[in-house]
Amino acid sequence: MSEFNPERVSKLIQKVENSLTHTAQVTDADKLVVGVDLGTAYIVLVVLDHHGEPVATEMQFAQVLKDGLVVDYIGALNIVRQLKEKLETRLQVSLEKAAIAMPSNTPESVCKTHRYVVEGAGMEVVNMLDEPTAANRVLGIRNGAVVDIGGGTTGLSIFKDGEVIYTADEATGGTHLSLVLAGHYKTSFEEAEEQKKDSANHRDVVAIVRPVIEKMGSIVHQHIQGFDVKDIYLVGGTTCLPEFEQIVEKQTGVTTWKPENPFLVTPLGIAISALEAENLLES
Ligand SMILES: Nc1ncnc2c1ncn2[C@@H]1O[C@H](COP(=O)(O)OP(=O)(O)OP(=O)(O)O)[C@@H](O)[C@H]1O
Ligand SMILES: [Mg+2]
Repeated sequence: MSEFNPERVSKLIQKVENSLTHTAQVTDADKLVVGVDLGTAYIVLVVLDHHGEPVATEMQFAQVLKDGLVVDYIGALNIVRQLKEKLETRLQVSLEKAAIAMPSNTPESVCKTHRYVVEGAGMEVVNMLDEPTAANRVLGIRNGAVVDIGGGTTGLSIFKDGEVIYTADEATGGTHLSLVLAGHYKTSFEEAEEQKKDSANHRDVVAIVRPVIEKMGSIVHQHIQGFDVKDIYLVGGTTCLPEFEQIVEKQTGVTTWKPENPFLVTPLGIAISALEAENLLES
């Protein structure tokens, strides 16, 4: 795993973003792997070649999970299958190997359901790992806390000398911000969700949801008590909002960093873990 280098992380994430709309030419089709992120808000599939380069990515908004649990198995399976087929059409290859990630401390039975979704969609699961560890495949930090704030969950892992020494999972995330916005503007959840993601509205959105972000920051603060955390690294779609890192920094008193686009970090990390599990990674 490479050392933390903010420029390298930003460049990598940029490449994943580009691969949403651009498809790379594939030379070694049998060495492709897929990272499948089954989130409470988005299902994302990232395809990497054996150099670790993103070649194609597909994603879809889906509410088939709740608090990290698959609540609509058939719905989840159909979406993963459709996204896989879209990628296969774009790349003109068949995709066979995938990795998946779960929130920390997920019970074995829930892990199995995740695995069945991906297997049911026609891929072999070559690796399973927890989400913050996946995110750290991209970040490469040795010390500090990785905080992944997604749609429905906030995952936190504390790293010491490259090892995870503490994990926590809280049922809070972007869905709560959208609910607060919907209440404020008296609109539907779906409208609030769209409004929240539009960067043109970001200043207004932060003004309204600031107390909720402060609460998220204080939850992070509680969890890192008693640990020597000198840096916090934010990932997950919810942290796309401006000032997120400043608010968390203020609540925790700990230097807080986020990548330019924190949204695709975990799905990319899951895909990297598949390459590592298969010993395919060549530089
Ligand atoms: N540009 C954006 N600005 C603000 N919020 C965003 C933006 N992009 C995504 N989000 C929010 O991020 C959340 C989804 O993030 P992410 O994909 O990391 O979650 P997930 O992995 O599906 O969920 P979880 O990790 O909780 O299972 C949603 O609440 C979405 O509204
Ligand atoms: Mg997530």
